[in-house]
Amino acid sequence: MSTEKFRFDGRVAIVTGAGTNPGLGRSYALLLASRGAKVVVNDLGVGPDGRGQIGPGAQAVVEEIRSAGGEAVADGHSVAERDSARAIVDTAVETWGRLDIVINNAGIAPFAMFDEITDQDIERVVGVHLMGHIWMCRAAWPHMAAQNYGRLVNVTSGVALMGMPTQSIYSAAKLGVIGLTRSLASEGAKHGIKANALSPFADTVALRTMLKQEFSERNQAAGLVPETVAPVATWLAHEECTISGKIINAAGGAVSEAYISQTAETQPDPDLTLEAMPTVMEQALDRTGSAPYADGGDFIYDAVKPYETAPRTA
Ligand SMILES: NC(=O)c1ccc[n+]([C@@H]2O[C@H](COP(=O)([O-])OP(=O)(O)OC[C@H]3O[C@@H](n4cnc5c(N)ncnc54)[C@H](O)[C@@H]3O)[C@@H](O)[C@H]2O)c1
Repeated sequence: MSTEKFRFDGRVAIVTGAGTNPGLGRSYALLLASRGAKVVVNDLGVGPDGRGQIGPGAQAVVEEIRSAGGEAVADGHSVAERDSARAIVDTAVETWGRLDIVINNAGIAPFAMFDEITDQDIERVVGVHLMGHIWMCRAAWPHMAAQNYGRLVNVTSGVALMGMPTQSIYSAAKLGVIGLTRSLASEGAKHGIKANALSPFADTVALRTMLKQEFSERNQAAGLVPETVAPVATWLAHEECTISGKIINAAGGAVSEAYISQTAETQPDPDLTLEAMPTVMEQALDRTGSAPYADGGDFIYDAVKPYETAPRTA
């Protein structure tokens, strides 16, 4: 019997985009499998710009896991469309009969100015990062809700919170992941589903491809490697990790929480005028007394009218 404190025996996990080396997804898949999880290693096998073919892919990671005594299967579907996302979930359920963990890691990262990025790349980036999260979470949700247990680890990026040049579309999609995750954390509470957003940083195939060599070398020298993020991602996927709706930064073994805050409200003023705005805005931007933005409230269940449309699978 293992003496490791945190194990995943009996748990079934999907890690998307886990076929690159060095890659964040691969490091999550290896750690999960080494602690007893059965892992679907998903990867479409595209380059960091979303094009072409790269590396040995998911099957190589599966072989690494198996040769270390773990259980894994490879899956080559895309996360970016509804039916192929469902097929990834089906791979887990048909192979092992359940699904407990999804780490939505798949991604692409073209660096381009807002007026330069092609329409096709805009759709690709939103397709993988935002729609990919939506389709994967939605495909996994009924299985998790039915067993009253699930762990969703959604991958965002600090870039989305920073407002960085060349990253407008990527940031839009990755900030969308945060909105999705925080809502799913609220909705998941009554189904035993925890959802958190992970903001990692590590030298990977993506960074090596998209950044100049000296940046990559600097990151490696600073110990910013995927293996230092893996304990954080897998902890968020563990049964004993009960936080939900959080945004967790992880890089080089350092961990922090990013949270959205707001400044103290100015006095309500029914006679607010346009002319008053310079003064009011100065007060509104005063960060003294800032507080975390409130988590979503259950009041909405009583407030909202029933959703009366066609069945959601139509
Ligand atoms: N590397 C970092 O420092 C960093 C920083 C912030 C966020 N992230 C995020 O972490 C995740 C992993 O990053 P990485 O640097 O390891 O990337 P990576 O490019 O090394 O690996 C991403 C993998 O996703 C796969 N993929 C792309 N589109 C897919 C699709 N539609 N379906 C299935 N698989 C698909 C690719 O084939 C690739 O193997 C990404 O979501 C990225 O945006 C990374």
